[in-house]
Parts: sequence; C-alpha cells; structure tokens
Amino acid sequence: MTDSKILKEHFRCRFGKEGVAYAAPGRINLIGEHTDYNGGFVFPGAVSQAIVAVVAPNGSRRVNAYAKDLDLEGSFSVDDDKGPEHLTFRYLYGVVREMMKLGVAVGGFDVVYGGDVPLGAGMSSSAALESCIAFALNDVFAAERIDGMTLARVGQATEHCYVGVKCGIMDQFASIHGRAGHLMRLDCRSGLFQYFPWHPEGYSLLLVNSCVKHELVGSPYNERRESCERVARLAGVETLRDCTWQKLDELAPHLSDADYRRARYVLGEADRVKAVSDALVRDDYDAVGQQMYLTHQGLSYDYEVSCPELDFLVDLAKRCGVAGSRMMGGGFGGCTINLLRDDLVGRFVEAAQREYRQKFGIECKIIPVEIGDGARKIS
Ligand code: GLA
Repeated sequence: MTDSKILKEHFRCRFGKEGVAYAAPGRINLIGEHTDYNGGFVFPGAVSQAIVAVVAPNGSRRVNAYAKDLDLEGSFSVDDDKGPEHLTFRYLYGVVREMMKLGVAVGGFDVVYGGDVPLGAGMSSSAALESCIAFALNDVFAAERIDGMTLARVGQATEHCYVGVKCGIMDQFASIHGRAGHLMRLDCRSGLFQYFPWHPEGYSLLLVNSCVKHELVGSPYNERRESCERVARLAGVETLRDCTWQKLDELAPHLSDADYRRARYVLGEADRVKAVSDALVRDDYDAVGQQMYLTHQGLSYDYEVSCPELDFLVDLAKRCGVAGSRMMGGGFGGCTINLLRDDLVGRFVEAAQREYRQKFGIECKIIPVEIGDGARKIS
C-alpha cells in the first residue's frame, strides 16, 4: 500500500498543518461479473492495493485537492451546482454532494491523495477513491455515522450522476466492506452478504494486467446494462435475476441477437456463481477454475466485453495448466484473474510475460493478490 507517511508529509508542506489519513482498497472478483446491476450475486474481495487520502477540514466552503500521482491540483466549492470539469475531481465532488444529500454537513476541506491501485486494470481504482473520500467525510463531518452500504451507494451514485458510468454496487461495496483473508458473497438485490474465509490450500490468485486500458466512461458498459434492462422489461421482471431460462427461450424470437446473448450470459453467470459457492464448500478449486473459464467464454462471445489481449492471456493460462482464468471487472482491457496451483506460478509467470510480449509487443504486469481490509482510518 502507498506509504501514508509520505502523503502526510505532502499534506503538511502544501497546507501547513496535519491531516488524518484514510485508506480504501481496490478489489478482485472471483466470479459473478456484470451480475450486480442485474440484481444477482458477486464474489469480490478487497486487495492490499489502496487509495490513501489525507484530509483535514479547513473552515471554509472550498475543497482544495491535490492528486499526487497525477501531480494535479484542483479546487471547488461544496455549494457549486456544476462542480469541476476534470474527471479526477468529479469523483470527489460527486461524493461531497451525495453525502450532503444524505444530510451530512460537509464543509470545506483540504485533501492530498494517491495510491497503488493500477488505473484501468479493472481493479476499481475509481471506486477506491470514492470509498476513501466517503469514509473520510463520514468520519470528519457526520454527526451520526452513515452505515457502510449507504457509503457504498454514495460512490455508486457518484459514478451514475457525476461521471456517467451506470455501474452496479460491487466495487464500492467491496472497497468498504472488505476483510483480510475473506471473500464476500453479496446478493446485490437484497444487499445481504456473507464473508467466506479464503485460504485455498496449495493455490494462489494472480492477476495478469494486459496493460491495455479500458474506457468505461462512454457507451459500451452502459449499453450492456441497457440490453439487460430491455430484456428484463420484456420478461416482466425487475432485473434479469428474476428471469428464468424458460422465459428467455420464450422471448428469444422477439429479441435482437445481441440482447439475447447478453441475457444468456447473465443467466449462465448466475448458475456459475452458484456452482462456485458449492465447489468452495468442498474446497474443490479445480471445479471453481472450470467455472472461471466458462465465465470468460461467456464474457467474450456472448457479452462481448473482452478483447484479443485478454482472450490470449486466458488461452495461455489454459495451455499452462492454470486451474481457472478469466477477464475481470467491466472489461475492454485490464486484468485476467488466475487461480493456479502454487507449484505452477513460476512457469506460468515466465510463459505469460514471454508469450504476451512476443504476440503484442507489450509487457504484461503480474500482480499477486493479497486479500486485505476495506476502508479504514490509518492515523
Ligand atoms: C465494473 C462496475 C461493477 C461491475 C463490473 C462487472 O467494475 O463498476 O459495478 O458491473 O464492472 O462485473
């Protein structure tokens, strides 16, 4: 994790006073991709990579921010109705305004932030930023503490209303609720969740970052969501969570080919999350891995959110004997998540780096996964 001492030092130099440091992590997701906004189940865990923000109220109505990794400063009033234009500060502004809507008396504050959640890797750096700021403002300004799920919704609303990504709740949920050594199974319809201890004896999780950058702002992510909502409407249900295979078959002649395949993926993914939950009870990691490969197939052929680089990395994993591999997150680039026996790690990493470089002329990045804690105050 980024050293909070360094950020605190930056804060001191810039604002001439002490600030308090908060952290909120990125996330992985074992299975259950693009199911959150369909009312389904997801299986995320928080990671040790996090956004750290050093914050102190300043007694004014202005927010003065410095994004250290981008070397960018920005300032806006909490009372401004439009907010800043730069994307990185829109995340802050959105969180501020959404907290105010909840009745929190957010005043001006100074903030310096940075982190080690890779951007565009599908590990939810933006959710980590939103969660970190929401958690900090809750601590600094709220007379009565807001609960974790509501804080996660503040981040989600920020994406929807200030950034333009109609995301689900998974990323912000995981960033707020993560617990070291545990994955979480969240029912995105009810908001109920369970912690699952994650100590896969003899296996590891490894991310391979394709270093191809996805762009969720804009249409493709929102278009997937619109397809799902169209099918749900025709099926007469609120979300695809409540659409059966039989209903989908009946509807098929009335759907475009793309909408049909999007819905088929979502229904299949619901079955796969269930299969993975059952396999985890038996500690059957090969069975978990098989479902991951099937998810990738669905994301690539039916949901069409993969890309040649990710498909290549998944095929390569299969050839190397990796138990399970798939693209992770929204798609259009980013990471694959790989579940593999410990004794295979060295060989797989070597092959991935060499073959990916040969094929695309790009260096992929290997990211070991450590399941860490959710949003917290550091000091
Ligand atoms: C992005 C979104 C999440 C989720 C995933 C796909 O990370 O922010 O809400 O939909 O894509 O599972």
